[in-house]
Amino acid sequence: MRTSPYDPHRPILLPFPDGWFGVAFSSELKPGQVLRRRLAGEDVVLYRTRGGRLRGIEPYCPHLGAHLGVGGRVENEDLVCPFHGFAFDPSGACVRTGYGTAPPARARLVQRHIHEASGMIWVWRHAEGAPPSWNFPEGPGEEHSTYPCSSFHLLRTYPQEMLENIVDLGHFGPLHGYSGVRIGDVPPVFDGDTFRAHFIAERAFPLLGVLTVDLRFRVYGLGCVHFAVEIPRVGVRMLVVAGFTPRNPGETEMRMAAYYQKPGLKVVSSPRVRAALQSVVESTSRVLLPQVFRWFEREIRQDQPIFETKTYLERARPAQGDGPIMPYRRWASQFYTPPLRSAAAEGPFRHRLDADEA
Ligand code: FES
Ligand SMILES: [Fe+2]
Repeated sequence: MRTSPYDPHRPILLPFPDGWFGVAFSSELKPGQVLRRRLAGEDVVLYRTRGGRLRGIEPYCPHLGAHLGVGGRVENEDLVCPFHGFAFDPSGACVRTGYGTAPPARARLVQRHIHEASGMIWVWRHAEGAPPSWNFPEGPGEEHSTYPCSSFHLLRTYPQEMLENIVDLGHFGPLHGYSGVRIGDVPPVFDGDTFRAHFIAERAFPLLGVLTVDLRFRVYGLGCVHFAVEIPRVGVRMLVVAGFTPRNPGETEMRMAAYYQKPGLKVVSSPRVRAALQSVVESTSRVLLPQVFRWFEREIRQDQPIFETKTYLERARPAQGDGPIMPYRRWASQFYTPPLRSAAAEGPFRHRLDADEA
């Protein structure tokens, strides 16, 4: 049995999943910068050329193996190794050595599949090196604000466990203080690489009292979730994008960014009235969005001690009121190579996805 590098008494509960995983906020990587990141037990090096081209590569220089994320630098459009000064163009080809000799023809950087969306940089990871098998979802559009609230958390747990929290309806009351948690107008749908869910609940907010919160989730693999949050009584409409990234065994990074949704003002014909309304919504959102965001962060802190000490029971004992945890686990099992063997995947499993579950 392998144990966690952080706690020798804690076994590794789940392997690394395959998929797209966020490794940085876009704002962390300006043109000319190099970043060293960790994904599924391996280093990844990211850089942006002076012209703004983003690249993600395997870390080791093909000449003699120096780590390009430690002292590697961008010179115009090239990445230059600190060891012998070999330079690599954006295609990965070696274009010069540090001593003016001909570059070795077969010395090439190994590129990773990367994608930039929702203010984050995402890297594809597959246990056997297979190419991306699904496209990455686009992020907030024109209907959303451009300034996000964002946060980073490092948790000693697994992406699958963190995402299970979404469908674990039973914990929202006892742990987070919600009441009346129920499935919204559509039941959870597990469909290929994504799943969708709609939940409604009541929650007490400081100063504002008890408010109804409407949450629509769309989950992409085990690395990314978009959730649209509405609190109609105070006019909050926001989109939160969260990334869950397995860094090392039992260690997961979480990045979260929230954008408020601009009001649909097409029916207002006067540009002046439209601008005035827009500015009212902006000022209200600038005040409310960080508060709602802090409330999400507080919930992560409430979950944290449970995530970091719980075990993963293959043979859990589900009860009515749990939410669709076992269908979720069956769906999640596809993101491992080989697919995760679990009681949930073995079936048969009787579970009703209807409103009285909540
Ligand atoms: S190891 Fe990179 S230039 Fe020699
Ligand atoms: Fe939670």
